[in-house]
Amino acid sequence: MDAIEAILSRKSSPRQQEPGPNEKELELIYKSALRAPDHGALKPWKFINVSGDGRKKLAEAALKAIEISDPDKAINNKDKILNAPYRAPLIIVVIASVNKESRIPEVEQILSAGAAAQNILIACHSLGYSAIWRTGFLSFNEEVSLSFGLNKNDIIIGYLYIGSTEKKIEAPEVSNINDFVQKWS
Ligand SMILES: Cc1cc2nc3c(=O)[nH]c(=O)nc-3n(C[C@H](O)[C@H](O)[C@H](O)COP(=O)(O)O)c2cc1C
Repeated sequence: MDAIEAILSRKSSPRQQEPGPNEKELELIYKSALRAPDHGALKPWKFINVSGDGRKKLAEAALKAIEISDPDKAINNKDKILNAPYRAPLIIVVIASVNKESRIPEVEQILSAGAAAQNILIACHSLGYSAIWRTGFLSFNEEVSLSFGLNKNDIIIGYLYIGSTEKKIEAPEVSNINDFVQKWS
């Protein structure tokens, strides 16, 4: 699959199943992430590779965080919360690890982590895997960040759920470029 085809045909899938990428494929996926544009060569990224029993740890961290912030929700949605990480064989947590001392603005460092996340999605798609980028509560919660051992300059920008799909995902429709592009010629 060439690059344009991979970009145009990538589509998110809400649920993934086994198998996830193997070790060799994972290496390609992470190498792709590390080729994200990066102003100042700061490499402002961290990745947490959650698979197998790691998903149980993630589920327990999420439940603990919700027990603290919203005890009723934790009681009423316990099964849903504990099952959420099992929606895929692999979850890559993408973190913007912001260097506050740098002359490079924080927003550029976060964008760089976003580009790394997109490279991961494209690499997965090229290798025949499906994925979806999620955020929500698990991204913006201090307790969850502590469970990962992150520091205060680390921002979880996404959970990339990765695996396989049973049914073929149809290529998405592409919006009309004229709705978004101004041409100065
Ligand atoms: C930063 C970011 C966070 C997102 N968070 C969620 C999320 O929590 N839940 C969700 O269903 N989709 C989320 N999405 C959207 C999906 O990843 C996906 O892009 C969307 O469903 C459109 O599908 P497509 O990628 O096939 O166009 C997020 C996207 C981005 C870029």
